[in-house]
Amino acid sequence: MLLPADFFSRFCVTQYIDTAPGHEQGIDRISHVNRRKDHRKSNLEKRFSSPDADRPSKSGGGDADQLLSAPASSKLRRQGIALSYTWCMGGTTFFLFLVEVVTGVLLMFYYRPTLEHAYNDILNLRDVTTLGIMRELHRWGAHAMVIAVWLHMYRVFLTGSYKPPREFNWVVGTLLLVFTLLLSFTGYLLPWDQLAIWAITVGSNMARATPGVGVEGPGASLLVLNGVPLVTSYSDAKFALLSGRSVGEMTLNRFYVLHCVAIPLAVSLLIMIHFWRVRKDGGISGPM
Ligand code: HEM
Repeated sequence: MLLPADFFSRFCVTQYIDTAPGHEQGIDRISHVNRRKDHRKSNLEKRFSSPDADRPSKSGGGDADQLLSAPASSKLRRQGIALSYTWCMGGTTFFLFLVEVVTGVLLMFYYRPTLEHAYNDILNLRDVTTLGIMRELHRWGAHAMVIAVWLHMYRVFLTGSYKPPREFNWVVGTLLLVFTLLLSFTGYLLPWDQLAIWAITVGSNMARATPGVGVEGPGASLLVLNGVPLVTSYSDAKFALLSGRSVGEMTLNRFYVLHCVAIPLAVSLLIMIHFWRVRKDGGISGPM
């Protein structure tokens, strides 16, 4: 069976290399740069030794060709994709994100984010609608994605894969973690039942204590312009989150847009950067 991590590596990587355990963590930037130079050199050799090498390129130059050939030139340590090493958790998180996107889009055909319809639409999805199973898949998939992303981060920490040259990708990863949690948080309100409304009320109250931008947070009282406080309960982080002072219809609308459009787009962009960096940093790290 093709596991997600396996799929990820086959999709992105064309060449495996074997190295002795313990080698990877010692790879520094210089050897990384040298390896990439070697790739470029072998790409050029391949291009000029091919039968149609003398044919003029449509792109008109080597740069575009190199850009296109770059994705096929990455190398990967065989141990790096071993299930016992990655736990397959990065690939699983990605797979679950795709499941969430597909089931979420299907749910959008049935769900209306208004006070009048939201709760009943959810009940109908459970009891009446043919594709109602999508809601269960979406809900369980969301829980699984949160667990998978934590396990992935834990694995990266345990294997020391946050160390140079992968520290930038660790930062991209932490953003992905925050956005994954925000996806969960914003989705929680959409069923518009008592649990959802009070959970978001409690959760958003914490935003009042955000340093600098929450009305009760440290530093907020210092932000004063001509004697007028800049951060008040009508202009702080909680107000921005709820689009009001308490949970209401505008909150539902705001969370719906964040949950279905803004955050998924941000996560997609970050995942692209994350995967690009995995390749740039020399593929998945190997065992320490
Ligand atoms: C939506 C969330 C995420 C997705 C889809 C994702 C996906 C992936 C995938 C597929 C890999 C390849 C290796 C593997 O499968 O383990 C990877 C590597 C990596 N990820 Fe993530 N990731 C996510 C979140 C995070 C988080 C929260 C962190 C840490 C804060 C992180 C840090 C890293 C690092 C440093 C690597 C390189 C690891 C290595 O080379 O061994 N990622 N990620």
